[in-house]
Amino acid sequence: MNDKRYIDVDWKNGMRIRFDYNNMLAENVGSAGITEADIMNMRPRFTKAVENMRNKRKSMEWRELPYQNKDLIEDIKQTAKYIQENYDAFVVFGIGGSALGPIAVHTALNNLRYNELDKQLRKTPKFYVEDNIDPERIRSLFQVIDPKRTMFNVITKSGNTPETMAQMLIITDVLKKALGSGFSKNLIATTDELKGNLIKIASEYGIKTYYIPSGVGGRFSELCPVGLLPAAVCGIDIEELLAGAAYMDSIIESSDSNPAYMFGALSVIAYEKGNNISVMMPYADSLKYIADWYAQLWAESLGKRLDNDNKQVFCGQTPVKALGVTDQHSQIQLYTEGGFDKVVTFIKVDRFREEVTIPHELKQYEDISYLCGHTLNELISAELFGTEYAISKSGHLNNMLILSEVNAFTIGQLLYFFEVATAFAGELLNINAFDQPGVEEGKNVAYALLNRKGYEDKLKELQSIKPKDEKYIK
Ligand code: PA5
Repeated sequence: MNDKRYIDVDWKNGMRIRFDYNNMLAENVGSAGITEADIMNMRPRFTKAVENMRNKRKSMEWRELPYQNKDLIEDIKQTAKYIQENYDAFVVFGIGGSALGPIAVHTALNNLRYNELDKQLRKTPKFYVEDNIDPERIRSLFQVIDPKRTMFNVITKSGNTPETMAQMLIITDVLKKALGSGFSKNLIATTDELKGNLIKIASEYGIKTYYIPSGVGGRFSELCPVGLLPAAVCGIDIEELLAGAAYMDSIIESSDSNPAYMFGALSVIAYEKGNNISVMMPYADSLKYIADWYAQLWAESLGKRLDNDNKQVFCGQTPVKALGVTDQHSQIQLYTEGGFDKVVTFIKVDRFREEVTIPHELKQYEDISYLCGHTLNELISAELFGTEYAISKSGHLNNMLILSEVNAFTIGQLLYFFEVATAFAGELLNINAFDQPGVEEGKNVAYALLNRKGYEDKLKELQSIKPKDEKYIK
């Protein structure tokens, strides 16, 4: 890899992500599209949201993550090197914003069969992100790793999330049995510096710790140690990732009609015209989990009952994950002929890291011989063009993000782009994009059922609920 290629202005500009929103407009897709009048109507809210983004920048600590302290970056790189030299596997225990970013960045930037590669080729430890508490899954993890040769990174901002803390208890037990009193050398905690239980446990047992800045919420945390340590362990250039995010920040700051604000604004206009669904459809396996990461960001940030004036609004577009071309054979029928209730965002990659030519085989079969001599790259690109055309022709809204290549610089841009677009959409909708009150009730019920202290009243409430009627269960 060229060292610090992102310093070169021409290279950087060549890697600039582009946002194409032609097919959001009525002039291109017809009556369901966004009109001049829609844009004019949005203008006052747009101007206000721009002002709010400017005024609130200091409180949005995640916006400064691209410019992190050099000592911290150095420390992460050193730790990653130590792990690469001394461990066979690296396991993240975390959930939601403490897992989806590491999964998305790793999948985007590493070999798609990373864990299955021969060690000589992979060079870095195997990588697992355990973001569920399915008992079968954790058992199966211990069938493929040796805990003595594995570094476990427990990530939780709150330091209290039950799923992650349950994993922490399990791994502590496993490591104590495997390593005795030195068990903590195979653990790294990434958490809030002051709040929660993980920080207390880490300091009691001398566990190496990275901090999640207090103003950085889970789904906005990929560019802090939550994402940077796992990425560095897997051999990703984290400085290039941050440089990409900083570059996107400079694009955003240089103009109010920047791509992130435009994405946020057009999404909100489309939503208010009845498009309740946001389909994220990358045409690259490497970006498959970017769609998962986006789904959490968009759903948890914008799905809100109350607005900032405490008015009930029940707002938010429902994100749907799709993958091109795979889901052309499962979802596209609906997107071309179904209701006018969705916006499809394609993510296109101009240059894949590989090129595969379809061989001149079986040429006697005329109906498939047209494929011979073309590349898979041409085929995927033709299919994306065709799908975009078909969806537009049927009058459905769509837009496209274009990446010259998938590399750490473009992924850094993409993450920052979506984060700012989400925050901007939150401003336009006049909601708080940074909390998640809607996930509390379900958690409280689970605590009560497990007899957690302080949840006695919730348990009483549960005991008084009407039992389900058997006649409706077949
Ligand atoms: O975005 C968020 O804040 C949430 O999705 C959290 O990331 C998720 O609930 C996990 O929380 P924590 O990191 O505190 O364990």
